[in-house]
Amino acid sequence: MTPVGSYRAAGRLAARNAGPLQGDISVPGDKSISHRALILGALAEGRTTVSGLLESADVLRTVAALRQFGIDVRRECADRWSIEGRAWRTPSQAIDCGNSGTTARLLMGAAAGQGVGVTLVGDSSLQSRPMRRVLDPLSSMGLDADGSSSLPVTLRPSQLGGTAHRLATPSAQVKSAILLAGLGTSDRVEVEEPMSCRDHTEIMLAEMGCEVRREGSTLSLGDRRRLSGTSIDVPADPSSAAFPLIAACVVPGSKVRAAGISVNPTRTGWIETMVEMGARISITNRRTVNGEPRGDLIAEHGPLRGVTVPAERIPSMVDEVPILAIAAACAAGRTIFEGVGELRVKESNRLDRMVTGLRANGVDAHVDGDCLIVEGRDRIPGGGRIDTHGDHRIAMSFLVLGAVAEAPVEVDEVEMIETSFPDFLDLMAALGARFDRPR
Ligand code: S3P
Repeated sequence: MTPVGSYRAAGRLAARNAGPLQGDISVPGDKSISHRALILGALAEGRTTVSGLLESADVLRTVAALRQFGIDVRRECADRWSIEGRAWRTPSQAIDCGNSGTTARLLMGAAAGQGVGVTLVGDSSLQSRPMRRVLDPLSSMGLDADGSSSLPVTLRPSQLGGTAHRLATPSAQVKSAILLAGLGTSDRVEVEEPMSCRDHTEIMLAEMGCEVRREGSTLSLGDRRRLSGTSIDVPADPSSAAFPLIAACVVPGSKVRAAGISVNPTRTGWIETMVEMGARISITNRRTVNGEPRGDLIAEHGPLRGVTVPAERIPSMVDEVPILAIAAACAAGRTIFEGVGELRVKESNRLDRMVTGLRANGVDAHVDGDCLIVEGRDRIPGGGRIDTHGDHRIAMSFLVLGAVAEAPVEVDEVEMIETSFPDFLDLMAALGARFDRPR
């Protein structure tokens, strides 16, 4: 085995138990808020400047897409991007959304609202993900689109009207697509969300001068739907922070601090769950910037116990279930994640990937209906080889398991980590994690 010397590595990688993880980390910008800052900036009148933007593969797909719509998006200097909002034009070529579901689904709504046409394509993972959930409500608003239920999808320029849509699955991407499409009509636009999911779009719309109302579980756009350019400072991504912080909770002797993390309550279900499991995680220095709460997080190793996570909490931790399943493997007793069926249609079938990967490392886990069940152990044998199916969060989760297992844990490919957390390997190595490239 040879140690890894550079980040953005591609290929196979093994993580081994190398003792405690300690230090202060700088977690990159929130992926969801970064996409929205770019897209809403492009829909606004005037200039929007963005600091803290996540410069990951997924977000750079949104940058490239907006340029194809004729928007001037620039990296002015390190840590400052600018977007000059203007009327969108129909791109001359198909837009490649790569692995990014947020790029595809939010752009469908935004482009529909702008009355422009577009063909969206993606990689093989994205092409297998459901798009009907976005196309159906947009079609009910008058969008003329081809009949497919997955990418590639072609939208034709259309004049939109209103809608009153009830989300069948709690999806912030679907909710956002409808709200963004609604900017292109003066008719009534309402979205009912039976379970609340991340609310960054509505917060940013309001920050940019759009009237968004909430009555109970129903959101609606008011008469004022024009956006004005603004300055946005993106908080650090709690979904990325979860990997090193949960690693600190499970690796004996560890303590890790991360400043400026989004603690928007629609994103902190994983912290609530870890605290219920007995984890030593604290939030200090809470403040609000651009309508978004943020705080500093400290996580320390301590004993964990299994818990039952109710389905209502899943939307606020939907991307963290894989790394929480790693925490569950290290906890005393059984953990049940209820209502996690949506994980089957993420970047991979994450229920299948987690069960297969945990079992390969000596941890009992199974799926029962829409529940994921993990039997915790006091020692993790490890030694498994993980087929990530090109899923960044599966790769990061099992690299964390390797930091606590008795034998190294190997993942088949780490390149996709760049879609959300390009510095993950370096950041973990700086804390004391050890990665080797298998020969
Ligand atoms: C996201 C919403 C979630 C999440 C994804 C990002 C967003 O997807 O899993 O990583 O930025 O709106 P769903 O809306 O499909 O649940």
